[in-house]
Amino acid sequence: MKIAVCPGSFDPPTNGHIDIIGRCAQRFESVIVAVVSNPGKSPLFSLDERLSLLRDSLSEHDNVDFVSFSGLLVEIAAERDVDIVIKGLRAGADFDYELQMAQMNAHVGSMETLFMPTSPRWGFVSSSLVKEVARLGGSVVDLVPLAVASALEEKLA
Ligand code: PNS
Repeated sequence: MKIAVCPGSFDPPTNGHIDIIGRCAQRFESVIVAVVSNPGKSPLFSLDERLSLLRDSLSEHDNVDFVSFSGLLVEIAAERDVDIVIKGLRAGADFDYELQMAQMNAHVGSMETLFMPTSPRWGFVSSSLVKEVARLGGSVVDLVPLAVASALEEKLA
């Protein structure tokens, strides 16, 4: 397997996301980070902002590419000759939802998914909790890349 896709909302990217993508970059020839546009979810960061934060946070990897998509994941994966979808798994709570998505992607696009366990140090980190803590004035500097911490501070000021 050569090409992996790491899909997500990344609103905003966390150290957990960066860890998973970085570990994929060491194991696959190339990695595509696919950012969903999900306008229905009214993300805090625009699509362009999320792409830019991801590019900035993953600049050390020259085999990582970035795309946005608004349709089916399996469609963008087929366009890019993706071999495998990689999803990070934190605790059991992630599993049911991720399993359902993996089985749906296999059904609609014959696309296989591999689950990669999140590093224990980031197991409690999620984009939603990071936003909640930041909104309520807590520090998230240890949980997200520097550029994201600054962007959150600016956005929530
Ligand atoms: O970071 P998230 O919000 O958990 O990422 C979810 C994402 C973007 C991976 C998922 O919503 C997705 O794949 N959306 C694309 C639409 C799609 O293909 N749906 C059908 C298969 S689940």
